Amino acid sequence: MSRQDEFFKHITEGNTNKGEYITLGSAMLDGKTVKNAYVNVPLKTMNRHGLIAGATGTGKTKTLQVLAENLSEKGVPVLLMDIKGDLSGLAQPSPGHPKIDERHAAIGLPFEPKAFPVEVLTLSEQDGVRLRATISEFGPVLISRILDVTETQAGIISVIFKYCDDNKLPLLDLKDFKKILQYATGEGKEEFQEAYGRISTASTGAILRKIIEIEQQGGELFFGEKSFEVDDLLRIDENGRGYINIIRLTDIQDKPKLFSTFMLSLLAEIYSTFPEQGDTGRPELIMFIDEAHLIFNEASKALLNQIESIVKLIRSKGVGLYFVTQNPTDVPEAVLSQLGLKVQHALRAFTAKDRKAIKLTAQNYPDTEYYDTADVLTSLGTGEALVSALNEKGRPTPLAATMMRAPMSRMDILTDSELKNLLSESNLVKKYNEEIDRESAYEMLNEKIEQAEAEEAKEKARQEKEALKKAESKRKSGTTRKSTRMNPIVKVLTSATFIRSVFGILTKVMKK
Ligand SMILES: Nc1ncnc2c1ncn2[C@@H]1O[C@H](COP(=O)(O)OP(=O)(O)OP(=O)(O)O)[C@@H](O)[C@H]1O
Ligand SMILES: [Mg+2]
Repeated sequence: MSRQDEFFKHITEGNTNKGEYITLGSAMLDGKTVKNAYVNVPLKTMNRHGLIAGATGTGKTKTLQVLAENLSEKGVPVLLMDIKGDLSGLAQPSPGHPKIDERHAAIGLPFEPKAFPVEVLTLSEQDGVRLRATISEFGPVLISRILDVTETQAGIISVIFKYCDDNKLPLLDLKDFKKILQYATGEGKEEFQEAYGRISTASTGAILRKIIEIEQQGGELFFGEKSFEVDDLLRIDENGRGYINIIRLTDIQDKPKLFSTFMLSLLAEIYSTFPEQGDTGRPELIMFIDEAHLIFNEASKALLNQIESIVKLIRSKGVGLYFVTQNPTDVPEAVLSQLGLKVQHALRAFTAKDRKAIKLTAQNYPDTEYYDTADVLTSLGTGEALVSALNEKGRPTPLAATMMRAPMSRMDILTDSELKNLLSESNLVKKYNEEIDRESAYEMLNEKIEQAEAEEAKEKARQEKEALKKAESKRKSGTTRKSTRMNPIVKVLTSATFIRSVFGILTKVMKK
């Protein structure tokens, strides 16, 4: 058997599946595509997470597009974090290109241009289904992690949540959260102290400053109602294809805190609402995070720990996370070690640091008699990648330099009018894009403070009236005793100025 035939057998045997799978392309040997040597990923192991890495312009985003399309076709819904804004083309068929035909002829797969069911979502004021969540839904633990507060401050946040629970004060947006923090050391100080102990102004001040940081990154747009129900990410269209939900995040690059807040809240929400998955052999939802270094670079230690543990746990809910980034070293070791699918596009060896990264990356792939991994890593062309997946038994598939198939949808973005049309037909836009500001902690506390102030004034007036009465009766009894000398206090109490000022206060209070 020739080396080429052996290789073909090695690849085809290693990529045979009993259940459903998707095809990424055909394997390459010595830089040439071997026709029909398909590289497949079983749906069954797609909840085991993955990585798409490679230097700029090598084809990472197109690989993401290919994966999303093929999952959708198999009825698996997809969620994409579109940081560069280059994924909306999924909603339109590819116009085709001679280079695509050439690519598919080499792979041995027909090329069929297709559009996919797409929903566009947004975290900001851009067009799209508005994604929001309330502070209550976050809960004290997650909020503390996101704000990156000290243990003492986290304790205060727990107390605040407890108070709001006990007093039925809905914590919806940042305005509510700030108000209750101010209340705890202001008007409500005694009430808090009695029920939960003293809260220091220094601590609430520090928490408030952290909230303002989030606010400055546009957090007030994200926190509030109507909160997004993650089940809406699981829709299937009338042809049985999974919806591709694209979150437009083009304006998020300079707002890393908001981005990681959102990511974490989404993962936590998915984790808490999705049921444990039985052995269905297919994932419930696949999530792709393009430019993933953005969440990892800016995340605090606490947040990183949270992400790491959610990555571990969410698998059992049938949710797969795929990180797309230039350098695999952008992803923390603890996350990296949990990834089942690796699609590594070309790396460039410009600097000593690059060469070190290539060496490290090569070590993460299984040894093979067909490739020198480090060599292949630097010689892959555009739209080619080293692929290592998990087979249905959970063991690595043969390492394959792969000529990736082309996206069936457009490799470019939607025009403004195409996007408008898409949104005008969206049911989710109708469901989520109405602004609601129902009565919550902010309004309720303001009301409470006003009431307390009015009561205080009333009480003061009552006391003063009492004092006046006492003075009056004393004055009278004084006369009966025929005292010639007036007590100095009584003198003050009956003086014209005093009475006038008391009446002044009384009339003011009555007017209120
Ligand atoms: N699978 C593919 N089929 C056909 N063409 C491809 C494929 N992958 C990449 N290309 C070509 O390469 C170009 C760059 O690909 P892509 O945008 O995916 O790179 P990238 O790695 O995401 O780059 P960046 O780091 O800048 O985001 C595409 O515009 C397309 O022309
Ligand atoms: Mg890209």
